[in-house]
Amino acid sequence: MKEKLQEMRQEVLKKLQEVKNVEAIKEIELKYFSRKGELSTFLRGLKDLSLDLKKEVGGLANQVKKELEDKLLEIKTEFLHKEGQANIPDDLTLPGKILTRGGLHPITIIQQEIEDLFISLGFMVLDGPELESDYFNFTALNIPPLHPARDMQDTFYVFNPQKKIQDLDLVMRTHTSPAQIRAMKKYGAPLKAIIPGRCFRNEATDARHEHTFYQFEGLMIGNNINFSNLKSILELVGKKLFGENTNLRMRPKFYPFVEPGNNGEYTCFLCSGKGCRVCKQSGWLEIVGAGLIHPSVLLAGGLDPSKYSGLAFGFGLTRLAMLKYGINDVRFFNSGDLKFLEQF
Ligand code: FA5
Repeated sequence: MKEKLQEMRQEVLKKLQEVKNVEAIKEIELKYFSRKGELSTFLRGLKDLSLDLKKEVGGLANQVKKELEDKLLEIKTEFLHKEGQANIPDDLTLPGKILTRGGLHPITIIQQEIEDLFISLGFMVLDGPELESDYFNFTALNIPPLHPARDMQDTFYVFNPQKKIQDLDLVMRTHTSPAQIRAMKKYGAPLKAIIPGRCFRNEATDARHEHTFYQFEGLMIGNNINFSNLKSILELVGKKLFGENTNLRMRPKFYPFVEPGNNGEYTCFLCSGKGCRVCKQSGWLEIVGAGLIHPSVLLAGGLDPSKYSGLAFGFGLTRLAMLKYGINDVRFFNSGDLKFLEQF
């Protein structure tokens, strides 16, 4: 065995000495080192030897294999260079290729900014399902079946193939508010949380309305939570996102799950309140729905309304991003257009 190995070693070394091009080296590689090559076959055969012989020949065989492989690589590299096939630039001082990297989506950037602000105020950041039950999305939020308030949000009901009918128990959530109930049930009171996430509405899309958009919900529950708590939180968000000179205006608005309910409007970022195209000359921009949590909603979340009160707000996260970056059409966000995305 040992002699055969030595013979093969001499043979390969001799052939490597005589090669004239890369092609010839590849032939040697195939003949000896490929899976069915002579050296590989020889090495595989060692397993059938007796233990003593295996020890004796095995060590030598590995040594020879390494020596031949090193030699082959050395000669191959030399010829690759000679034939200009090596993958190394001649001028090593040339600048390298710049790798293009992805970046964060503008909505993600603003979401992270908001999460940081609320974490610093002691809020938890929670998540909720996008495919929601009709109960959490509407009924538990004081919008029972057939209530006219359901018309405020045109909804994607989800087809259940097993039932062969449209399953009215499942909807793509129309807002992040159902996560309020889930949070109350899971964590009880006192509770401070925000819930950012994607929402879906059957919209005829235009520059301000998308079928898929982001909101973030906020809620704070405890003893004696009142309207001034709500106002101060909304003021803080406005100043943080749009600057110290941003003012807040709160006007009544009906939402079945809060009482009283209101619209939060901020000083227009573009005209600083003077009136312009973006704010339709009013000087204010409507961005958030908010109010004090309705007692029926606290009950649905398993909390006693005689003991606890709470505030809730729902920002249009996509609209916040539009305002912050001066984007005039909401449809850019889901377009996947790199010319748009590369600006952030
Ligand atoms: C709601 O969705 C309530 N859940 C908000 C709320 C939460 C009120 C807690 C009270 C307490 P509304 O339908 O107004 O409310 O939507 C809130 C925000 O989501 C809007 O101000 C807007 O910024 C954004 N929004 C709504 N529909 C769309 C849409 N189709 N495309 C983009 N943004 C939208």
